[in-house]
Amino acid sequence: MTESKIREHLKTKIFGRRMYSLDSIDSTNTHLKSLAVEGAEEGTLVITEEQTAGKGRLGRTWQTQKGMNLTFSVLLRPNISANHLGIISIAAGVAVAEAIQELCKIQAECKWPNDILFDDKKLCGILCESVISPSKFSAVIVGIGVNVNQTMFPTELNDIATSIARATGTTADRAALLAKILERLEFWYDKIQSDQTEEIIVQWKKNTTMLGKKISVNRQGAVLDGIAKEVDADGSLIFQTNGGEINIHSGDVTIIHS
Ligand code: BTN
Repeated sequence: MTESKIREHLKTKIFGRRMYSLDSIDSTNTHLKSLAVEGAEEGTLVITEEQTAGKGRLGRTWQTQKGMNLTFSVLLRPNISANHLGIISIAAGVAVAEAIQELCKIQAECKWPNDILFDDKKLCGILCESVISPSKFSAVIVGIGVNVNQTMFPTELNDIATSIARATGTTADRAALLAKILERLEFWYDKIQSDQTEEIIVQWKKNTTMLGKKISVNRQGAVLDGIAKEVDADGSLIFQTNGGEINIHSGDVTIIHS
């Protein structure tokens, strides 16, 4: 996927206009963090065909087949405080789900906090990280990994991961999909910047089936069962347990299918 192919599809104002298109890197999030500290501008995109140390949420790794998927990070410099990171990852989830639905015609759905599923299997993972540096260039890195054209997965992922190609039976145009994700992300980010975050929550809720379902939440080894009730204005999950309702800001959620 060449930079010029991506630019052919790009309709954004700022997202992806400054682009680093790489063949291989440790992690696009890690690389973009260093660029952020050096003062890179908002909307800067780092995209790669391969990561040698891809990062997942909760200290996990993210591994995908070279040249088959979308592996990228976008730099944001929001005018909101770091504890609003939740709404940014909710917005990123909505952007990815919408882009996949529109271009690939499959019912990609959002799972809190920021997975995209198809047929209950993971199509995409999102890792948002904030950068707080002494030089006051604070920033948020939105890292997105979409399984696009990979059809073979390692045994341990085979039943829990899927891809657009697996879902549709055809290969997808990665450059077109990337451009559409950036377009939708920029749209929702503008809402965050103009304090219209309710619309993002409404849209996220339209794209999920998990609310009202039984879930199990693992927070650093402590497992709690309950019901996923709502997503709050800050992007946290309102979780109904036997002991009452609590807001969860991070954790590993399993949907219990009955
Ligand atoms: C998860 O579901 O655990 C989140 C996975 C996030 C993976 C993406 S791939 C691009 C970016 N760079 C990284 O190192 N991680 C994110």
